Amino acid sequence: MIRLVVLVSGGGTNLQHIIDRVNDGTVTNTEIVEVISNNKGAYALTRAENAGVPAKVISPKDFDEREAFNKALIAELDNVKPDLIVLAGYLVIIPPEMVEKYPNKIINIHPSLIPSFCGTGYYGLKVHEAALKRGVKVTGATVHFVDEGTDSGHIILQKAVEIKDDDTPEILQKRVMQEAEWKLLPKAIDLFANGKLTIKDHKVFISE
Ligand code: GRF
Repeated sequence: MIRLVVLVSGGGTNLQHIIDRVNDGTVTNTEIVEVISNNKGAYALTRAENAGVPAKVISPKDFDEREAFNKALIAELDNVKPDLIVLAGYLVIIPPEMVEKYPNKIINIHPSLIPSFCGTGYYGLKVHEAALKRGVKVTGATVHFVDEGTDSGHIILQKAVEIKDDDTPEILQKRVMQEAEWKLLPKAIDLFANGKLTIKDHKVFISE
């Protein structure tokens, strides 16, 4: 059974789908041991409470310097001892020390087909606004391992989503979440939890 910690910042719809898939047995060999939010007002915390999952708020705003926040976040993880850390709509920069401590044990969901519309400044609705502005016909979501860059780690899973002519950023975001994010993240967790992900020559191989 792997110990899973989920980091959140907002509404927590990705967290909810992880909780639901663990509860219905779609995601196996996984226990969600803690949810950590940087935002005390995140509805994701309510979702964790409703599901009986322990939750904590560790916010940069509660520390004089970012270094102190980084240390507090890493200390909490040392305490909980996760096998896998999932960033589910988490909007805080991951401390380099954390990436070093958990190599290929941190995964992130990004709402585009990386390497399109990713990197610094591309998060939440901004990603979909950029895709619509560029006029791409297809977008989607990507689950990837977190490395020292932004949205630059090894890609685990991707799923394409068609863009419709009358899409607004909000409509597109919802479709990408429904058709891609909420499916990919639980799938990636289940693959990780069952030892089915192998990294070789900068590529992730999935053994079924
Ligand atoms: C979503 O746009 C997701 O793509 C991004 O964070 C946003 C919030 O997701 N990673 P959630 O509802 O908090 O899971």
